[in-house]
Amino acid sequence: MDPPAVGEAVKRVIVALDPARRGDVDRLLDMARLVCGVGAGIKVGLPMLALGGSEALAEAARLCKGGGLRVLDLKLADIGYIMRLAAESLSRGFDAAIAHAFVGYEGGLVELKKTLDGLGARLVLVVSMSHPGSREVLDPCLDKLLAVARRVEPWGVVAPATRPEVVARVRETLPTTVILSPGVGAQGGKPGDAICLGGADYEIVGRMVAGSPDPVSALRGVAEYIAARCPEK
Ligand code: XMP
Repeated sequence: MDPPAVGEAVKRVIVALDPARRGDVDRLLDMARLVCGVGAGIKVGLPMLALGGSEALAEAARLCKGGGLRVLDLKLADIGYIMRLAAESLSRGFDAAIAHAFVGYEGGLVELKKTLDGLGARLVLVVSMSHPGSREVLDPCLDKLLAVARRVEPWGVVAPATRPEVVARVRETLPTTVILSPGVGAQGGKPGDAICLGGADYEIVGRMVAGSPDPVSALRGVAEYIAARCPEK
């Protein structure tokens, strides 16, 4: 892959907006508006749902409309029927929704994918995670999880920026599937590793950008780092 210039690199960074307390919700919604036109888009999930309600999720999607990818991260992991109900009530207005690959195809992900198709949203499957505990159960099952992903044919998969070698394995197995890589910054992943070493399409950055007093500059800083890192490849 050619190294991205800064202007292109910033369009490869998705900002995770996760409020830690109720008072953060409005600030992060304002941030959605700010970062959406600049970066690749936003990701919101359980913290925003728990502290701001379904209205805050819908508002985040609305504020980012036309400004980039809007990813709903509920990491769904239930039977198809329940995931369908959750997707129908919460994923409207989003471009993509994340679920766990370990749920499997029959009676699970096939139904969720159909539901999301009907809502005009794309499915993203978690095949590995960015925290160390991913090594306990998920990573020994990576081949099986990738087999599920091959069968479900999601638009995207999630693989950890903290371990670019895992991202590279995912890229090898799924050459055309979009890879989103969280774990940059606060969790120790270096900006650019997942894209430049692993072949990811997007890096997801939360606290490093959302916790900054100047999130747009922080986002541009991440992009500069990515652009500078790739030529070393
Ligand atoms: P920070 O603040 O650590 O936020 O940059 C990271 C964001 O990414 C999410 N996250 C993950 N999502 N699989 C996922 O699907 C993962 O392995 C993973 N690791 C982090 C996290 O929910 C937060 O929004």
